[in-house]
Order: sequence, then structure tokens, then C-alpha cells
Amino acid sequence: QDVEKETAAIVDSHEQLEGPLLPILHDVQAKFGYIPEEALLHIADRLNLSRAEVYGTISFYHDFRKKAAGRHVLKVCRSEACQSVGGDKLAEGVQSALGITWHETTDDGMITLEPVYCLGLCACAPAAMLDEKIHGRLDKSGVLALVEEVK
Ligand code: FES
Repeated sequence: QDVEKETAAIVDSHEQLEGPLLPILHDVQAKFGYIPEEALLHIADRLNLSRAEVYGTISFYHDFRKKAAGRHVLKVCRSEACQSVGGDKLAEGVQSALGITWHETTDDGMITLEPVYCLGLCACAPAAMLDEKIHGRLDKSGVLALVEEVK
């Protein structure tokens, strides 16, 4: 994929907007699965922003990735309802079992772990999402079973 060319087309389509940066970043991530460095530089250049400003925005929003994700993305809910029923313990258990922390990918490139802030499944907390599928009432072994299933 030609990152520069594809990014240029995305910038073209949003340039007229009042605040074009976020929609541009969303589209770039949808296209590549993350925000490549080359795209970041192109966006900064075209919008007359510094590289640090664009980088700051990418870092501020949890949804943007700076690196390509693994084959599967596991998002564990970090919001209140899930926290109150053992979300912290679940997150810790999953991190240590996978040997990674937030925004990291397992060595085999299979699983990227990301925090998420409410999946709308608070009644069945703690919740997590593997790829696009949401699961509730999870414990550590439940999450690891899901991971094994997709591997
Ligand atoms: Fe976790 Fe709503 S707080 S799903």
C-alpha cells in the first residue's frame, strides 16, 4: 500500500471540515489498522500542524494505534461497572497470562491487548471484546478460553 498516496486522498476528502484532524486519523486507522509514521508526517504537513501536535492527539485518544495490531485485538473494559465486579483483577490476570500490558502485542503476533471504556454490557460485567465480538460475565479463564479459540 502506498501510505503517502492513500493518506493524501483521505486528507483531500476532509480538508474542508472545521476540525479535520480526528476524522482524518479515524480514516487512516481504518485504512491501515494504525497510524503509520509516514501518514503522521503527511497529515502534519498538510494541516500545518507540528508533528508533536498530531502525535499528541494520537496519544490522547485510546482508539488510535501507533503500531500495527496483532492478528486479534482483545479489549478489556476498564470502566466503573466492570471495575466494581473485579475488572482490575481480570485485567491483571489477563496481562500476566499473555505476558503483555496495554497496547502491546504477544510475541507470536496473535493478540494485541487494549483497554476500552464501557462496552455497553455493564449488566453482565466484567466485559471484554475480542475482535468485534463482545462477551460478558468473564473471569480470567473465560477470557483465555476465548483467546485460545481464535488462535
Ligand atoms: Fe464495562 Fe460498561 S463498564 S461494559
